[in-house]
Amino acid sequence: MSDIAYVNGAYIPIGEARVSILDRGFLFADGVYEVAAVIGGRLIDNESHLSRLERSLRELRIGSPIPVSRIAEIEAELIARNGLSEGLVYLQITRGAAAEREFGFPTEAAPTFVAFAQKKNIIASPAAETGVKALTVPDLRWARRDIKSTALLAQVLAKQAALEGGCQEAWMVDQDGFVTEGSSSTAFILTGANVLVTRLNSSAVLPGCTRKAVQLLAEREGLTVEERSFSLAEAYEAKEAFLTSASNLVLPVVSLDGRPIGSGAPGDTSRLLRRRYIEWATNTSRTD
Ligand code: PDD
Repeated sequence: MSDIAYVNGAYIPIGEARVSILDRGFLFADGVYEVAAVIGGRLIDNESHLSRLERSLRELRIGSPIPVSRIAEIEAELIARNGLSEGLVYLQITRGAAAEREFGFPTEAAPTFVAFAQKKNIIASPAAETGVKALTVPDLRWARRDIKSTALLAQVLAKQAALEGGCQEAWMVDQDGFVTEGSSSTAFILTGANVLVTRLNSSAVLPGCTRKAVQLLAEREGLTVEERSFSLAEAYEAKEAFLTSASNLVLPVVSLDGRPIGSGAPGDTSRLLRRRYIEWATNTSRTD
């Protein structure tokens, strides 16, 4: 069975799915996207993803081509048509294709909507057992990182630097020496005093959906969560570190720039929160 994508109202084999070269997503990265996890054939925390999508669209004044309730139906249909049990659903909305390349918003273009599904072992992930290594890089992004824009070149370069450095994720550091977030994930540390720290949501970071759920689950476990900036120096000294994202849930970070974090192995709190997130995702966050 070939993989099926969704393009502007039609379900099409992914190899045949096309958008115009004049699409503003292609020309200007003038679009937004979302990635939601699928576990047991069900979308995880999808209401949170769709409300962030609505916000991203609103901030950029891109009209949604279809009501958000319809989007969840399309995602469910993609899961069914692709027989997806575990993995991700990706969706992207751009300002559409105009008759010619002009920077200003086109008046005649209709937004483009594409979506596809991708298989991935997110629960039985080897990285969850071993943890991942992270490398820090300067945060080169624009000033509206709270919008889930498809303009991801800085993150692409950050991730590539990590991979070339033998790491799996990059943590980006702002001009003042504070960690913002991962190239495609939220960054957390656990201090020696057992306080979980993650950066306050602002235009400096993407408000992670997984982060939000993990924060609640951590508080339920009696942990204190501080939303504040933490420096690279503080991160090096952390007892534990982990990242959160729809594509990796909760993943221990065991070294930063070649320095072991804590014992250099996945920590108890990181492992506990990963277990709790999976329990929560598979029991309570069902959207059907
Ligand atoms: N990325 N920060 C950034 C810069 C991200 O790109 C992501 C997610 C997150 C975590 O957000 P969430 O928990 O809602 O997935 C934080 C997705 C997975 C991606 O681009 O593939």
